[in-house]
Order: sequence, then C-alpha cells, then structure tokens
Amino acid sequence: MCGIIGYVGPRQVMPILLEGLKAQEYRGYDSAGIAVLEDDAIRLIRSKGKIAVLEKKIGSAYGSATIGIGHTRWATHGSPTDTNSHPHLDCKNEIAVVHNGIIENYLELRNWLLKKGHVFASQTDTEVLPHLLEEFYDGDLLAAMMQTVSKLHGSYATVALCKHDPQKLVAARRDNPLIIGLGDGEYYFASDMAALIEYTREMLILQNGDIAEMTPDGVRVFNDGAEVERQIQHISWSKKAAQKGGYKHFMLKEIHEQPWALGQTLKGRIAADEKAVELKELEFSPEYLRSIDKVVMVACGTAYHAGLVGKAIMEKLLRLPVDVEIASEFQHKEPIIDQRTLAVVISQSGETIDSLYAMRECRERGAKIIAICNVLDSTIAREADYVLYTWAGPEIAVASTKAYITQLMLLYMLTFYLAEQLGKMSGEQLQPLISQLYRLPEKVEQTITQLEAPIKRIARGMKTWEDAFFIGRGLDYAVSLEGALKLKEISYIHAEAYAAGELKHGTIALIVPDVPVMAICTQREPMPRMISNIVELQARGAFVVGVTWADQKDVIKVSDKALLLPEVDELLAPILTVVPLQLLAYYAAVAKKCNVDQPRNLAKSVTVL
Ligand code: F6R
Repeated sequence: MCGIIGYVGPRQVMPILLEGLKAQEYRGYDSAGIAVLEDDAIRLIRSKGKIAVLEKKIGSAYGSATIGIGHTRWATHGSPTDTNSHPHLDCKNEIAVVHNGIIENYLELRNWLLKKGHVFASQTDTEVLPHLLEEFYDGDLLAAMMQTVSKLHGSYATVALCKHDPQKLVAARRDNPLIIGLGDGEYYFASDMAALIEYTREMLILQNGDIAEMTPDGVRVFNDGAEVERQIQHISWSKKAAQKGGYKHFMLKEIHEQPWALGQTLKGRIAADEKAVELKELEFSPEYLRSIDKVVMVACGTAYHAGLVGKAIMEKLLRLPVDVEIASEFQHKEPIIDQRTLAVVISQSGETIDSLYAMRECRERGAKIIAICNVLDSTIAREADYVLYTWAGPEIAVASTKAYITQLMLLYMLTFYLAEQLGKMSGEQLQPLISQLYRLPEKVEQTITQLEAPIKRIARGMKTWEDAFFIGRGLDYAVSLEGALKLKEISYIHAEAYAAGELKHGTIALIVPDVPVMAICTQREPMPRMISNIVELQARGAFVVGVTWADQKDVIKVSDKALLLPEVDELLAPILTVVPLQLLAYYAAVAKKCNVDQPRNLAKSVTVL
C-alpha cells in the first residue's frame, strides 16, 4: 500500500531514492518524501502529489548524502498533505521513519507519548514510530527498534534513520513486505523487488517479526531477540520485465504479455501425453484427498472474480461444494470450516491483508491451505501449506490483467488435477480439455490480434459514456464482474455486472437509449435466453456489444457490434472472454485521458484492513 526505499553505501543516495520510489509509485501515489543524512543533520523533503512533484522540489540539489530513506504514500490516517507525508521525525529532528501498514494502537501510544512531552506534527499513525524510537534510544538504534515494535499492534514495514548512527538503517516488518537488496558494500531496503532489480539480483525477504540492521559492512537480521539467517533469493526476471518495453502504459504491456504469462503458468505442469496436470507443489496423501468435503476460496477484487470462475468449474467437474468468500467479509462471519475443508487463497501480491487474515482464520479452523500467488515468497505464499505460483512476472499496473488470467489458468489446472486425483475424471476424459488448455496462450494471442483494432474503435465513442452494463450467464456472469471492475477502476465510467436473468428484476429500469451493454455469450446452454435478453435491451434502445463465437449467428445478428472469439471448449472461455473486456477498459481510459496505470484513490497492493 505504500512504497519504501532505503540505501546505505558509498554512492550519492538521492538519485537511488528517487528511482526506487518511481519504480514503486504504483503502490501509492498521493504524496512522497525522502530523508537523508547530510552534514550531520537529517535533510527532509516531502511533498503532496506524485513523485514528479517531489523530484521538482528536490531539483538538482542532490547533495553528498550516501544514506537515506524514501516513501511513496497511499493515505490511510491523515489526508495527503505535505505534513502527513513520510518520512516522519521525532521531536529533535534526529530520527526519521518511513512506514507501510497501520499501527492499530496508535491513539493509545500517541496519548502515552504526549504525556511524556512529545510533540506531534501530523495526523498519521506512523508518527508514533519516530517518537517511540526517540523515547527508547540510548545510543543503540537496533535496541530502540526492538523496544518500539514490542509496543505495536497492527501491521508494519518500517525503516528508520538516526543522526547519531550515520552509517546505519534499522527496519522491522510484520504483515507488510520488506525486501533487502544485497550489493557489493551497499545495501537497499524496498517494498518490492522491482525497485531493486536495477542494482542487484540477490535479495533477502524479511519475515514476520524480523528486525534488520543495515550498514555498509552488511546486514544482520534478528527475530525474537536472536540473530537469524534468511535465505538469499536470486531473482531471475529482467529489468525489462519491470519496464514498459515500448508500450504506452504498463496495463497495455501486461495485457499483451498474457500469452507469455499463461505459458509461464503452464510450464512444466502438463504431462507429455496431455492426460494429466502435474502439480508437484501439492503433496496430498490419498487419505487426505478422500477426506475433503468442501473447498473454500478467499480473495479480494479481481482475485475474488477469478475465484468465482474457479467455483463454477470445480463444482461442475468435482461435484464438491465450493464457497468463494470476499476476504474482508470473511472476518465478520463464523465460517463453516474444519479439517475436511481445502482452502484456496488467491492473491497476486500475496500481501493483501484481508486475504492474509482470512487465510489465518482458515488455518485456525483446521483447513489445509493452497495459495495461488504471483509474488515470490510473499507473506501469503510463505504461510500457506502449499503454493502454486502463477509465474506471470511483475504486474505493475494497478488494474490487474495478467495476474487474473494466470490465476484462472491455475484454477483450471488445480481442478483438472483434483478431478484426476479424486477419481472424478480419467486421463482420457481430461485429455481434450488439457490439450486445449495447453494451447490457450496462442488463442489469447489471436484474440488480442483480432480484437484490439475493433475495440479501439468502440472505445473512441466511450468518452461520453456515463454508465455501462455487463451481462452474462454462468461462467460468462463471473467474467462480466471482472469486465465491469476493470472499466470502472481505470476509466471511472460507472459499470455494473448482472446475471442476465436478473435484469428483469430491477436493473432493466436503468436501460435508456444508447446505454452500452456488453453481453457475454459463450455458454451454449443459456444462449437462447441471452439472445432474448439482448433483444429486450435493444427494445429499450441499449447499444449492445456481443462477445461470442463466430458460429453464434443469432447473437451476432441481434447485437449492434459483435466481438468474435477464437473457438475453444466453452468451459475454458473465461480465459479468452476477459481479454476484450480488459482492452475495452484500457482504451476507454485512454480515450478519457485517465491515468491508466495509477487510477485515482487506488494502490496496487492493499496491505491495510
Ligand atoms: C483490480 C485489482 C484488485 C486486486 C485486489 C487483490 O484490478 O487489482 O481488485 O485484485 O486488490 O489483490 P491481490 O491479488 O494482490 O490480493
């Protein structure tokens, strides 16, 4: 939810901080700031607005500092102002702190500190951190951090810089990501590997409860008061993967990357005879498999929508009940989960706090947990019993595209895997589906190639759209929800998805002449009813764009415009249908001159409750 950067080493720190912040701007972009140690004093520069505003404020005055911290913010406590921007300082301007997360007991701590005479400058929860460090500092920043975190409730990734320790940064993490980059005589902190890939491929991922001390001589990590070893990860993806690669926006690049990303997800997981999906990550005993009587999926936003597709296919092929829960709601109920429940947590970032807490709730109730994640070694990935990585590469645009499509891919793979393991389907029965699944990257490529130009033309007229509707039945309804979310989050066009049969129960009242409706029509059994729905909408003047197969002449005939998909088994259709909906949202946002990659009020990874 916020981006953190820190550096200790021989080089001028300012450009490193600015570049690190730019690489993480997608994590939060309502204000930014840096603190460096220069001429024996902390130099603090903060600004409301994007990093470009901060950069302007800094100008060419980079100075000689070689140690510093930076932060790009997505506001939680305290509106985005210069004063609420991070870093925050203690009373004597000797300690600077950046923080990602929420200190839940900050009011209590603030009152305690106020009584001790501390003076606060901002409305943020974060500001208690420099004051606590000030309170506990006795010449040892590490010891002060240990005492500080012992007082905290909530989630944090935090880095502190102290005037009296001019060669040292100290950090701590709980439930929010913090990565250490290992250079040669220089070291980095960041919230995301993408910020460090330019400097190093050797990274340490801090774990919950870790406190780290960084100097030009190296890094030491402590947990529970004792020094611990953390395994060095070698990051193989390239710097180019985290850059736009010639595309105007990350979102467009990531849409175009989907065939490649799907290939990555499939890699090494399909048997040579295409009769089985091989998920070596899962080591289920036959007894455990026989004991599963229910699947529960928990996720947020787009990942939740992927779960809805997963539910439909699993229930159809496994004949097991599957619940899909919005992770933030899950915490407010008493979920019916026990040792016979298989829980699947879906999260691109692996850091979404609602999904993390929902996962822990599943664990407490005895469920085994599979995490479907994209970010390597993220908190959810680490805490789950099993992880299936999507291997989609870094997703930078706030609007999720390649993560969703690869989550779908894994949900299909998991379903086919379980179908075989549970004896619900034989290799012979699975082979035609697996074989088509394996070839979906080409079909997605074909979909992009064929539909991008017509969608661009439709989108040109979207500047004037105020409302849009997405309808479908069965699997098409699940994808409609994702189509509507994509459109509203980046183009700010109000969009709603409806199960087409529900229209007549209220929503059709909103249909007025020219209102656009995306009608997703890939499921053959409900096709006649979808056609009736389209006709009903047209009778009220709607502008209907049908998304369907080339052989669906009736849908094509009744739609104002038809977007035709390459043929695949209808069970696999969601992986194709979402593509035109992503492109439509993208080109609508471009037509409306919206900030595609960083839509207002949003952030990439929601690490606060
Ligand atoms: C929408 C979007 C969000 C995320 C949601 C969960 O485009 O990206 O709805 O899907 O915040 O994030 P993860 O998957 O990181 O848990």
